[in-house]
Amino acid sequence: MKTALVTGGSGNLGRLLSRQLRSRGVQVVQFDIPEAEPQDKDADEVIVSGDVRDSALLEKLIKEHKPDAIFHLASLLSGTSEADIEMAWQVNATASFDLMRLALANDVGQFFFASTLATYGAGVADPLPEDEPQWPDLFYGATKVAVERLGVYFKLKHGLDFRCLRFPLVLSPFAPPGALTAYPSHAFKAACNGETSYVFPVSGHIGTSTLFIDDVISSIVNYNWADKNKLNRHAYSLHSYVMRGDMVEEAIKKRFPDFNARYEPVAAAEHMLGGLPDVVDDSHARADWQWSPDYDFDGTAAKMFELFS
Ligand SMILES: NC(=O)c1ccc[n+]([C@@H]2O[C@H](COP(=O)([O-])OP(=O)(O)OC[C@H]3O[C@@H](n4cnc5c(N)ncnc54)[C@H](O)[C@@H]3O)[C@@H](O)[C@H]2O)c1
Repeated sequence: MKTALVTGGSGNLGRLLSRQLRSRGVQVVQFDIPEAEPQDKDADEVIVSGDVRDSALLEKLIKEHKPDAIFHLASLLSGTSEADIEMAWQVNATASFDLMRLALANDVGQFFFASTLATYGAGVADPLPEDEPQWPDLFYGATKVAVERLGVYFKLKHGLDFRCLRFPLVLSPFAPPGALTAYPSHAFKAACNGETSYVFPVSGHIGTSTLFIDDVISSIVNYNWADKNKLNRHAYSLHSYVMRGDMVEEAIKKRFPDFNARYEPVAAAEHMLGGLPDVVDDSHARADWQWSPDYDFDGTAAKMFELFS
């Protein structure tokens, strides 16, 4: 891989992925809305501002830079999608459709899409088998499952090297505000900033399959470097450990004994996180491209404290 286009390139995953790709010698074009542009740009960051719905601009960019891979991360998240479903459809679904067609028309070859466990909907089996039917009940999940299907169509019909990972909740020091799943990340940050209390919008006993951000980034890199012929599935679900609010509270209290979680469940967050499984079968990823996360919950908590101190 010589050149890559990363949409959502100023986001939580996009910036770290871009750094990782650059460290492998890949020239990276990070694409994001101007409002997302970071203040602390790295010297070698090439950031292009624009809207992913502007397919004429993306066509110009692809023709100019000739990427051999697109990492498509630009998206509205769970909360923001539910709040504006028209815009969520345009950004998450229509723009993805247009971008995959541009990838095909310009011989980009490899197209990575970041999907989510929210494509399965609530009340699924736990542990979640990968082949569980995907019937999302939130608009975010509906847009994501639509793109999964479109990607598979373009792969089977036109040979696009479509690759897709379904992430569970991601714990990250850079967790975006628009995700219903971001509260544990924000709780760590609040405690490290000296706050002695934080409102958890989900009951403490509700568990959710979780990954630490560093494992997310290495999964994207390793999967996209994997031999195409060894990938037996169109998409893979990933899992590392179960995380509950009370585990987050306990971990923070060990470090900051005065800290208290205030549990004030919000229906939408409780519904989404309560509906996600604690454990996900990720054996296909482990077998096909040797997926193996480095971080368990304790390792994640230690790293979050280190990064915020
Ligand atoms: N963080 C998680 O828990 C999680 C879990 C599962 C899947 N994902 C997926 O991973 C991807 C990255 O998520 P993230 O955590 O980095 O979120 P993020 O919000 O930090 O990043 C998304 C980026 O997309 C950009 N974007 C939004 N609308 C755009 C538009 N119209 N044009 C151009 N850019 C636009 C945003 O500015 C943002 O920088 C998303 O596709 C998300 O659905 C994230």
